[in-house]
Amino acid sequence: MNESTYAGQKVVVFDFGAQYGQLIARRVRDLHVYSEIVPCDISADEVRAINPAAIILSGGPASVYAEDAPSIDPDVLELGIPVLGFCYGQQIMAVTLGGEVGHTEKGEYGPAPLTRTDGGTSALYGDTPAEQTVWMSHRDAVSRAPEGFTVTAKTDVCPVASMECAERRLYATQYHPEVRHTPYGNELLKNFLFGICGLEPNWTMDSIIEDSIAAIREQVGEDRVILGLSGGVDSSVVAALCAKAIGRQLTCVFVNHGLLRKNEPEEVEEVFTKQFDVDFVHVHAEERYAELLAGVTDPEQKRKIIGTQFWNEFFAVAQDLAENGRPVKYLAQGTIYPDIIESGARKTGGKASTIKSHHNLIPFPDGVHFDLIEPLDHFFKDEVRALGTALGLPDHIVHRQPFPGPGLAIRIIGDVTPEKLEILKNADAIVREELDAYNARLFEETGERNSEHSCWQYFAVLPDIMSVGVMGDERTYARPVILRAVESSDAMTADWAKLPYDVLARISSRIVAEVPGANRVCYDITSKPPATIEWE
Ligand code: XMP
Repeated sequence: MNESTYAGQKVVVFDFGAQYGQLIARRVRDLHVYSEIVPCDISADEVRAINPAAIILSGGPASVYAEDAPSIDPDVLELGIPVLGFCYGQQIMAVTLGGEVGHTEKGEYGPAPLTRTDGGTSALYGDTPAEQTVWMSHRDAVSRAPEGFTVTAKTDVCPVASMECAERRLYATQYHPEVRHTPYGNELLKNFLFGICGLEPNWTMDSIIEDSIAAIREQVGEDRVILGLSGGVDSSVVAALCAKAIGRQLTCVFVNHGLLRKNEPEEVEEVFTKQFDVDFVHVHAEERYAELLAGVTDPEQKRKIIGTQFWNEFFAVAQDLAENGRPVKYLAQGTIYPDIIESGARKTGGKASTIKSHHNLIPFPDGVHFDLIEPLDHFFKDEVRALGTALGLPDHIVHRQPFPGPGLAIRIIGDVTPEKLEILKNADAIVREELDAYNARLFEETGERNSEHSCWQYFAVLPDIMSVGVMGDERTYARPVILRAVESSDAMTADWAKLPYDVLARISSRIVAEVPGANRVCYDITSKPPATIEWE
């Protein structure tokens, strides 16, 4: 999708501090209105070119009077586009339009009782109660609203808890309507989007799929597209979307490095040959990888070998296609929106929409070039999963746990041998089976997929040591298997899962009984940080 996607129907969120903008964009999307994040220093002309139906100014950690405090182009507030500011967004609106922001010593953090002072006239508050609870998190606050503004609510600490100039459709709150701790926050957001801005909640899964398919067809025309399929959710959803859009103009290349989990290659092949009719190339590279990895013990070296060989295998298929009269013009990638925001922000200090540095990561060989298509580059991860489900992908793909590109090679400490791989695959299959069932039980009880105690990622690791055991009357000298199971939401931090003893016991006895070559099970009880989730 290009820059003008949903022009006239979308919300842009000015980002004054990364996580604030993302949360607001999510809330708006949850109300079925398309929204995207723009850097806060975007010019009024650039905003006009994007042509949004509404602007939201996010909160942020800065103080408006601090040196280098982010500001906005004042003309943005003169475009005639409705604007809603939260927290820092309210303060920046106030100072830009001639109001004042004061610095309080104490600040206000957490839930606060709010009183409406609008006499029931504010379209932003609509039918919400005269007294309500809101979530505050600030030190500075607006002390005097700009001329022409009405103060619409107050709290004990905050004389201007919200303000508006309905005539110019400018609204702002000191508190955070986007967080769940503000019970009427969603109502406010709806009143703004549907009442004040006149938007329609028509950004639905069906419309997303229809628009994405149309966009892919338009971009690709009669040309051919190639895609590296890993079995992960992102590349699978791209494949499914492209399959619907352009059918057999798509070649999916599945490079089997022999380092996937038990049954995974078969499952991927089954979905993309039976359910979706694409040109599916299963590259059996297991032996080549085994040779390249023989004797290699250094984790970084393993990663490098595996990554480089992937592209060798991949480009060989592309070349083959070209030689057989089916030249490829496009490479499809499962880049998702957070990748774009992150890489953009890193490169340009916030100009998220302009630069996609990850593009440079593809090591095109000399003389080879593909244009990229990235149909997921406007979606968050859980939207990608919802898309996958709507496209008919099975749950085991849509809700697959994260799995590293180098696969089991970085879960085998030391060198990778066929024997070790076999032990790890079998032990890992048991871990997954038992913890899938455990998660399913929790899902049934709580209705949430990632509830408080569910495991987010779980697998087996094979260390490079042996230990003595006894089985029947026989002494054994075999390998311990390490169980790693963590609770997390984003992999940035993680805690070891507090699994019930009976679940642990079952995993342990099954591995020792069912996996030849394993005679002991240990549980890794380290959080991240200081450890990482993977062992290598
Ligand atoms: P760590 O071990 O750094 O892992 O705590 C964080 C998350 O990233 C996954 N991971 C990878 N994913 N390629 C990937 O696509 C990799 O090389 C890789 N290494 C780690 C890991 O499984 C965890 O979810």
